[in-house]
Amino acid sequence: MIEVNDLTKRYGAITAVDHVSFKVEPGEILGFLGPNGAGKSTTMRILTGALGANEGTATIDGISIADHPKAAKRKFGYVPEVPPLYLEMTVRGYVEYAAQLRGVPRRKLKPAVARALEVCSLDEVAHRLVGHLSKGYQQRVGLAQALVHEPPVLILDEPTIGLDPNQIIGIRQLIRGLAGKHTIILSTHILPEVTMTCQRVVIINKGKIVAQGSIDELSAQLQKGERLSIVLRRPAPDTGERLRAVRDVLHVAEETVGSGSARYLVDVDAGKDIREEMAKLAVTRDWGLLELRRESLSLEEVFRELTTREETGTGRVEVVA
Ligand SMILES: Nc1ncnc2c1ncn2[C@@H]1O[C@H](COP(=O)(O)OP(=O)(O)OP(=O)(O)O)[C@@H](O)[C@H]1O
Ligand SMILES: [Mg+2]
Repeated sequence: MIEVNDLTKRYGAITAVDHVSFKVEPGEILGFLGPNGAGKSTTMRILTGALGANEGTATIDGISIADHPKAAKRKFGYVPEVPPLYLEMTVRGYVEYAAQLRGVPRRKLKPAVARALEVCSLDEVAHRLVGHLSKGYQQRVGLAQALVHEPPVLILDEPTIGLDPNQIIGIRQLIRGLAGKHTIILSTHILPEVTMTCQRVVIINKGKIVAQGSIDELSAQLQKGERLSIVLRRPAPDTGERLRAVRDVLHVAEETVGSGSARYLVDVDAGKDIREEMAKLAVTRDWGLLELRRESLSLEEVFRELTTREETGTGRVEVVA
């Protein structure tokens, strides 16, 4: 539904977006994740035709935004970082105005506005001035103006920035509810936002895509090996040594967890599953197996790893979904 190919944007010496390519499938919510200055807003502005690219192409529903801006603009709604709200207008008046701008035919205007207000839970404040609303409600107005013409695609630049925790929950719920009906790309520099709202993620850092895939895929790809956590009630003096001697084990770290129990963090070659062997060994040796589980990297760790790798220049990791 959205296709970005080799997009590059330079501001003088700064390459804000550097050969970026990704796709968003119909009905999907894609998280566009990256730290400040990564190039998220620049990419989104190119997608919406607000900014021209130096290289590369962007299409929405197969329509090139650079070649056919008018047709492409009918296909999406956009909420920029700072939504351009008319503070002296009423909520209904503003959404109506946005609908007219987007070419909603006059006879369809009323139902379109009513639907947008309902979807964004704005009915109760429809008569109020936009400038008198809380930030969370103003963000809802931003969404309502973006979806009033029922575009298949929504482009949301940091939709929860500056909101309080309750407002954030409300906006995330609203966005999740729009998936399926709309294809959504939302940018954020907040990791939990991605895990809570999105199905897939593209991670951008310093203008370059450093990883993309589902959250599980990213975690799996980044695990150089597997790590098992084993808790034993009665470890013996030679337990660590015996665990290390098991085939495919790379490293064993030991920590006491109180009253004689101990936890062993066992690093294993990627793709090897030695849980059964470990369980047998613990039972045979009567170590009192309390816990045996696989540990996986959280996206937070993935993100940290990706961005620091970029900085140390040890190469870039590409995870393609
Ligand atoms: N008009 C401009 N002129 C010069 N440089 C710019 C301009 N707009 C953006 N940049 C630079 O391009 C880079 C990417 O900026 P961009 O706003 O796309 O990042 P972002 O990922 O949206 O960051 P944030 O999370 O802070 O919103 C930054 O280094 C920024 O300083
Ligand atoms: Mg930005």
